[in-house]
Amino acid sequence: MLTSPSIRVSAPTFEHHHSGFGIHFPRPRISWKFTCEIENVFDWTQVAYDIEVCGSNDTQTYHVTGASSCLVPWPAGCTNLVSREKRHARVRCYGSFKGLQGNCCDAITEWSAWGSVEAALLEQNDWISRMITIADPLPLNDDGSIKPLRFRKFFSLPPGEIIVRARLYATSHGVYQPMLNGVVVGDQCMAPGWQSYHKRLHYQIYDVADLLRADSENIIEFDVGAGWFASALTSTNNRFFYGDTPGVLAQLEMDFQTEGRPNSKRAETISTDESWSCTSSPILSSEIYNGEIFDQRRDYELREEVHTRSTWQKTKISSTEVGRLISPNAPPVRVTTTLSPRSISNSASGRAIIDFGVNVVGRIRIREIQKPRGHRIIFRHAEVVQGNELYRRPLRDAEATDVLVCGGHRVVNWTPKFTFHGFRYVDVEGWSADEIGDDSIVAEVMHTDLQRVGDFTCSNEEVNILHQNAVRSLRGNFLSVPTDCPQRDDREGWTGDINIFMSSANFLYNTAGMLGNWLDDLYADQMEESEHWCKGVVPLVVPNCFLKKDEGDQAKGAQGWEPVRNGVWADAAIMVPWELFRSTGDTDILRRQYDSMVQYLENGVSRGLDGLWNDEQWQFGDWLDPTAPINSSGQTRTDGTFVADCFLLRSTELMGSIANVLQQYPKAKHYAKAYHDLLSAFQSKYISPTGLLVPDTPTAFALAIRFRLLPPASVTATANRLRRALRLLDFRIPTGFTGTAHLMHSLTETGQPSLAHTMLLSEAIPSFLYPVRMGATTIWERWDALKPDGTVHEGSMTSFNHYALGAVVSWLYECMGGIKVLTPCRDGEVQDGHEVHRFLDEDSNERLSILIQPQIHHAIQFVNTTYESRCGVVQCKWRFVNSPRTNDISEHDDEVDVDVLIPPNAMAFVVLPRISSWRSGSGQWRTTEEVAKAVEHPFRFAFYGREASSDMLKVGSGCHSFRFHYNRATDSESSFPVNPLLPPWGRARF
Ligand code: BGC
Repeated sequence: MLTSPSIRVSAPTFEHHHSGFGIHFPRPRISWKFTCEIENVFDWTQVAYDIEVCGSNDTQTYHVTGASSCLVPWPAGCTNLVSREKRHARVRCYGSFKGLQGNCCDAITEWSAWGSVEAALLEQNDWISRMITIADPLPLNDDGSIKPLRFRKFFSLPPGEIIVRARLYATSHGVYQPMLNGVVVGDQCMAPGWQSYHKRLHYQIYDVADLLRADSENIIEFDVGAGWFASALTSTNNRFFYGDTPGVLAQLEMDFQTEGRPNSKRAETISTDESWSCTSSPILSSEIYNGEIFDQRRDYELREEVHTRSTWQKTKISSTEVGRLISPNAPPVRVTTTLSPRSISNSASGRAIIDFGVNVVGRIRIREIQKPRGHRIIFRHAEVVQGNELYRRPLRDAEATDVLVCGGHRVVNWTPKFTFHGFRYVDVEGWSADEIGDDSIVAEVMHTDLQRVGDFTCSNEEVNILHQNAVRSLRGNFLSVPTDCPQRDDREGWTGDINIFMSSANFLYNTAGMLGNWLDDLYADQMEESEHWCKGVVPLVVPNCFLKKDEGDQAKGAQGWEPVRNGVWADAAIMVPWELFRSTGDTDILRRQYDSMVQYLENGVSRGLDGLWNDEQWQFGDWLDPTAPINSSGQTRTDGTFVADCFLLRSTELMGSIANVLQQYPKAKHYAKAYHDLLSAFQSKYISPTGLLVPDTPTAFALAIRFRLLPPASVTATANRLRRALRLLDFRIPTGFTGTAHLMHSLTETGQPSLAHTMLLSEAIPSFLYPVRMGATTIWERWDALKPDGTVHEGSMTSFNHYALGAVVSWLYECMGGIKVLTPCRDGEVQDGHEVHRFLDEDSNERLSILIQPQIHHAIQFVNTTYESRCGVVQCKWRFVNSPRTNDISEHDDEVDVDVLIPPNAMAFVVLPRISSWRSGSGQWRTTEEVAKAVEHPFRFAFYGREASSDMLKVGSGCHSFRFHYNRATDSESSFPVNPLLPPWGRARF
């Protein structure tokens, strides 16, 4: 068989783990991606693969037949990984491809590079360490916050031996930073992140061999701050939700051998126990919302202490419950970028204001400063300035203030350790604008370090900024948990916000590792068994820090909320795993969450007699509808119960699909029936006898169209009503959280892409681009967070970094950009790609299928969209060609070029109107006649009484270029081809 160097296979990855180092599975599933380096290679399809697994003693090769390259099982004959075990794996694939002449070749790829996997501590009893805390009563600050602690232990290594392996396994109750011999270990921030700590506790693994000293005494230290464990949290600023005793749990495992004697291996472990000591750290206080105070004087005292060792206090085993210890798939929180000041000026009151140019999440770092002992420099953070002063009201009770108390020594590279802020501006007291140089201070951007997967640019710069703002808002709000906002006294994992943004998020970053872990927390908190919770109810926030506590239990933490059943927010239990499945093809995510989904539908919905939501149940609904009164964001023009009902229907319908994917066919039948019963209840309740929808609002129309809840006879009326409403509003954006996520798709799916473009580019106030025109660098919580006169909206919900309204991103990628990943499913019941599935080959469910269907509109000259799918990079680039290439088109016709890249082992359906020519790679253009032969099915649509058609070509991997005629006159508001795949009323007729 031919070796094909043109198809390259990436080094294997394991599960959804970010690096393979510290995996929590004994038989991790393996994935690889492809690239094709030669233009004229097409339809590359894998039929089998060899996988070579190399352990410390042997190397085995396994030959497996199969087309899948994503999450394939650990080879059947290969032994389980045991705790700490490291193996390497590489892959080569067998397949076939076509050359330019259509000639078919069988080929085998080169071996991929090696991927490494190292098992974490897979058994709970691998842990011999205990969580320790201070033995004496914990010192508190005057405001009631805890004083962060420093824990330490001295130890010596056996003389004359060399260290062959050293791993530090560590976590804390609080947030921690480890130091070995004075050097900070690793680059993680805010570890271990935020989980439902008593049920699940993440730990981190560090390779520390290089930091140990064989020749002298070693010192291991941990700074531990309050973190989410004990900081004031939620808008009521309750402290100690998880406990009031910060602690650390660590196990430093070292393997040695005598030089030149490989068989002399022996191991030693340093574990946290009462032999450790602790003291107050140079960080005097540090909380998530309030910020950090660092005292350089204490830092110097502690440096002296290392030599005197006098005043440290005893530790004890913590009595606070430790959750199940887990090494997460999620990448750690890191600093990924630094920003220098864009300007440093004086505020109206004469203090320095630093503008970092864009709204970010993270912290400042002072490069260097020296001030007299006791001098305090105060850094206050905010997202906006008003009247030339930092404007902090939107932060509500979050202080967002860091303080550096100088000790008279040079401060070099200081940064707060255990807090983060959402800010663009920093107001500095105690360090004047004249003294601060451009390189004295930087902003460090922090977030969960996810892999970027998508990019989008088009000819309209404002739309590009909108997209970039969504990227920034995702980054800032994916900091350990997916939060609503990163700056005020909120910052919880609101389920509704991520539910709404989820499909957009997946086009921007690979969220599977992080959100998979977050869903474990969702399930754990949903199944809470206590007198203050109803098992099965999906919490509004995950981890559920709203949970009510027993009276007297940590005084303040005893406040909290009764369980609130709420549509849209709770539907995250079904829709978030579904979206993860759509992007990763991983059925295991659905399997793991299945009980959570069932529990939600059975116990988490408060139903009326008709099975829909009980009308008496309060709902957030179309939260932050722009017409809702200030500070009553739930009083929306679209009834909240209606919104919740739409989501309930969609969730129930998805459950049918999910049960099918999981091959639970009786369950699938059950949910299909439940869906149809609910649908008829919905239609009796909300469709008037003349076919009009109640409520008569754009959000209601968008949801009913998008979730296909209308009887066929009402579709046209509803689409017309939506168009009429938008025109009456002069194209002002009329939707809140839920409507915005679906408005543009609903216009496209009802054949009104021109109206969608009008809405996107509208100059009305507010509109999609209004925040961009007002200088936004992130997505705002409310459309008019900054009013036209430049002042900040009065509402208490005025965050400048909330991703929910950025949910238009999925429309940018899928519709403007034209890349849609079709859902793998054998049953044909799945909505996305329903029609296309009729054309799938027998085996093509194993392959990634993509729909390429850009919505071209003359308001935009070009769009370039890239998405790194699970098989490799998909690209769709389209542009108007300036001069017509043929004479036979009318003066209203333009030509459009579309370049498509499909990765090996994937296939695509390209749906474009009137394709005139097509070529693959650098081959010849095929003529109109040849195209006509290749077009599998000319799609015809009857919509609004007009007919439109488009061509569909099925293509395999490779680069494909298309040209087609675009007619300005007819390709306007209602006649452009509707999406052939989605609404049943828009389905193709042959
Ligand atoms: C958050 C929202 C959230 C909402 C629910 C707010 O405080 O910022 O994004 O979903 O509460 O009511």
